[in-house]
Amino acid sequence: MPQKVRGVVAHSKGQPVSVETIVIPDPGPGEAVVKVQACGVCHTDLHYREGGINDEFPFLLGHEAAGVVEAVGEGVTDVEPGDYVILNWRAVCGQCRACKKGKPWYCFNTHNAAQKMTLEDGTELTPALGIGAFAEKTLVHAGQCTKVNPAARPQAAGLLGCGVMAGLGAAVNTGQVGRGDSIAVIGCGGVGDAAIAGATLAGATTIIAVDMDPKKLEWAKEFGATHTINAHETDVVEAIRELTGGHGADVVVDAVGRPETFRQAFDARDLAGTAVLVGVPTPDMTVELPLIEVFGHGGATKSSWYGDCLPSRDFPALIDLYLQGRLPLDKFVSEEISIDAVEEAFHRMERGEVLRSVVVL
Ligand SMILES: NC(=O)c1ccc[n+]([C@@H]2O[C@H](COP(=O)([O-])OP(=O)(O)OC[C@H]3O[C@@H](n4cnc5c(N)ncnc54)[C@H](O)[C@@H]3O)[C@@H](O)[C@H]2O)c1
Ligand SMILES: [Zn+2]
Ligand SMILES: [Zn+2]
Repeated sequence: MPQKVRGVVAHSKGQPVSVETIVIPDPGPGEAVVKVQACGVCHTDLHYREGGINDEFPFLLGHEAAGVVEAVGEGVTDVEPGDYVILNWRAVCGQCRACKKGKPWYCFNTHNAAQKMTLEDGTELTPALGIGAFAEKTLVHAGQCTKVNPAARPQAAGLLGCGVMAGLGAAVNTGQVGRGDSIAVIGCGGVGDAAIAGATLAGATTIIAVDMDPKKLEWAKEFGATHTINAHETDVVEAIRELTGGHGADVVVDAVGRPETFRQAFDARDLAGTAVLVGVPTPDMTVELPLIEVFGHGGATKSSWYGDCLPSRDFPALIDLYLQGRLPLDKFVSEEISIDAVEEAFHRMERGEVLRSVVVL
């Protein structure tokens, strides 16, 4: 029997979101219905609401969640009802070019549920990143459920499902930051601070936080930033060079995703250094670069989708680090809110008042 639950829907570009009744079909072959316990508010949800991702309104927002599997469809063997899971947006296919080359974190054909969740009048919803977890329950592909240690509270664990994994992986997996390296992180929201936490875990010795908001710079120190730069007051590239012996950082992560911050990341690298773009640009943005610099600087500019993570490999390990007190996931949780307060949480995000508002269901 299809179930009716409450969920947060973005109906059209730029319009406030509202809580609606959502119809969840029974799980079909390869699918699972998950009872969502907590879901973080990520900037990407706001990008969806602003029409910055695509035009497939209405969206069922929310994609950074943990919960318990309620029911599974035919052929599902990896998870069963009662399993505690983090939802992921990289259920790898095992068959595409990337998977066959042994690089499944680039999978080009990730799985989502085949059936659609709908509004009561039958209007099909597009779940954000194939998840849609600002809802009491959601329908996903079973491969989107990654089992982790249930001792980790869902408010913290769910954050690995997007922003924290994206930022941490941008530094560690994509940027390959390591022991003794220097790193600068531009934009210290949830994603940027996760890059800082990742660099700390990896043993980087110079960790430079860059933001325009002094409060964000203070918070960044709690995740391991050794230096801070206020982008409002200082030339970011010069300041990063000064803090790295005049050379630039081994890795610079752009966790904002604007032409000017990407350019700063590109310029503030050391020779042969790596710039990593993890912030999501909008389709209208362009950059122009001196080709001689692209050549002469060496190194790499890379983008990082989901921190080049492999959920089945990375989530359980990072949850273990959290439970050992080595990854401070709780520090990302600025506030716990009800499902009715997502619109207000967007405003608080825009005003820079929170790292993560977490919807608790
Ligand atoms: N690549 C991925 O897989 C992935 C996953 C999740 C989120 N994201 C993206 O990462 C970005 C950050 O997400 P978030 O949730 O941390 O957002 P957020 O809004 O919480 O944080 C953004 C931070 O950047 C700062 N900032 C803005 N403009 C700046 C500038 N010019 N210079 C320095 N700092 C500046 C803000 O003050 C804020 O602290 C978003 O674009 C989001 O869509 C990407
Ligand atoms: Zn694949
Ligand atoms: Zn996200």
